[in-house]
Amino acid sequence: MIFTTISPDGVPNAAPIGLHMKDGRFFARIYNSKTLDNILVKKAAAANIVDDPVLFVQSALSDIQPDNFEFESGFPVLKDALGWIVFDCKCRKGETISVVELSPVESKIKRRQIKPINRGYNAVIEATVEATRYVVLKDIKYLDRIEYYDTIVQKCGGFREKEAMKLLFDLIGE
Ligand SMILES: Cc1cc2nc3c(=O)[nH]c(=O)nc-3n(C[C@H](O)[C@H](O)[C@H](O)COP(=O)(O)O)c2cc1C
Repeated sequence: MIFTTISPDGVPNAAPIGLHMKDGRFFARIYNSKTLDNILVKKAAAANIVDDPVLFVQSALSDIQPDNFEFESGFPVLKDALGWIVFDCKCRKGETISVVELSPVESKIKRRQIKPINRGYNAVIEATVEATRYVVLKDIKYLDRIEYYDTIVQKCGGFREKEAMKLLFDLIGE
């Protein structure tokens, strides 16, 4: 999922965040970040279902352009989402990680499409997770993992996956 949120002064933000479900209730575990700052103040977030690997890389490692957003009932969602759910948020703040309980208020399915499993696409997502760790911790082991996932992208990915990896290396400065 890519979570979209809005700052107190009205600036939309997007970042990949995992959506968890337990006993029929939704929640997210969120490290200190812009997403968490926004949720703590505005108490809302949208989970966008997205299949574009470039958007995952961009939103994880940089600020995406304002023209990627559209507003639904005053709340930012991603224009290219296949669908989204807007949630009210209740936050249990922790020192480094906070647990956010999410109650759905509105949702939309915009496109339904058949998407076969692609190792290249999955490798971009895994590489992006490692990249978010690399930029914070600068440990070479994350870079090694990214290089490994890149070999899969180059073998199995399509044009968009290869674009995403190029952008990832640019954004982490490698
Ligand atoms: C696939 C994927 C899943 C992620 N899931 C989470 C998550 O569940 N919680 C979290 O705090 N960060 C998660 N991240 C890392 C954040 O997206 C990353 O720290 C991001 O830079 C936060 O951006 P922000 O400061 O704009 O909110 C994930 C990254 C990726 C690529």
